[in-house]
Amino acid sequence: MVEKDLRGLFSIEGKAALVTGAGSGLGRAIAVAYAQFGARVSCVDISVKDSEAVCDEINKNGGDAVAIVCDVSRSEDVRRAVEVSLGAFGAIDILVNSAGIGMRSTAEDMTDVMWDRVLDINLKGTFLFCREVGRHMIERGEGGRIINMASVGGVVGLETGNANYCASKGGVIAMTKTLALEWAKHKILVNAVAPSHTRTALIEKLMEQKPEVKEYFLNNIPLGMLAEPVHIVGPAIFLASEAASFVTGHTLIVDGGHTAR
Ligand SMILES: NC(=O)c1ccc[n+]([C@@H]2O[C@H](COP(=O)([O-])OP(=O)(O)OC[C@H]3O[C@@H](n4cnc5c(N)ncnc54)[C@H](O)[C@@H]3O)[C@@H](O)[C@H]2O)c1
Repeated sequence: MVEKDLRGLFSIEGKAALVTGAGSGLGRAIAVAYAQFGARVSCVDISVKDSEAVCDEINKNGGDAVAIVCDVSRSEDVRRAVEVSLGAFGAIDILVNSAGIGMRSTAEDMTDVMWDRVLDINLKGTFLFCREVGRHMIERGEGGRIINMASVGGVVGLETGNANYCASKGGVIAMTKTLALEWAKHKILVNAVAPSHTRTALIEKLMEQKPEVKEYFLNNIPLGMLAEPVHIVGPAIFLASEAASFVTGHTLIVDGGHTAR
């Protein structure tokens, strides 16, 4: 018997991907990598400048990308973003929800605004894109992949003033499992990636201002270093590819050993 040639197992060539938060950090790294791997990419971000910059970089390097400005916490914006993406590429095979923010405070001083804004973007925004793209994938009938950016903060507690952030990421993990169950019959695989602290705009400034926070992050990571965005790219390619075709409802923890303790 001739074995199936498995060398294309990790391919996403020709797929259409929509990445939120594509203007910076993890979303940017994933958008650029997906394009390098032959996917067409809708780069969604609230920042006009950053979404256009990543899109320009991809197109300049022979890729195929469109920039879409959208606030993920507003359902009208999300509906329009999906429409624009479908207008550009005709379908969405892969959705990556990476848009996210942090607003730190000890719980006793946390304001309603800090709680609501973080939950609105990190959790509701992720749901709104899952719902809108899920509707498209169900109607199209060809399955799909959804990858939600969680965090180790959704798995274990953090001691850096993150009650709102950790609640949002725990919510993302729970929602990911539920959507995986609801949409398994449509062959839509829904997974999450939970990185530990990764060197991006989200935490760079904080670490500059508070070296003790950087110390805390490093002490929690057995590999002894912060993650770089590129460390999250491989898992995001894996979960989008045929190699992960029996993986759904899973949270892939990418944390240098943080949660192994
Ligand atoms: N950096 C880390 O240490 C780390 C660790 C674990 C999880 N994460 C998660 O990874 C994801 C990406 O974070 P990052 O580190 O790349 O941060 P980042 O700040 O570098 O990038 C986040 C992007 O999201 C965009 N964004 C923010 N609010 C938005 C909104 N309302 N609508 C649309 N876009 C919006 C920003 O403009 C930015 O381009 C987030 O969900 C974050 O919680 C980050």
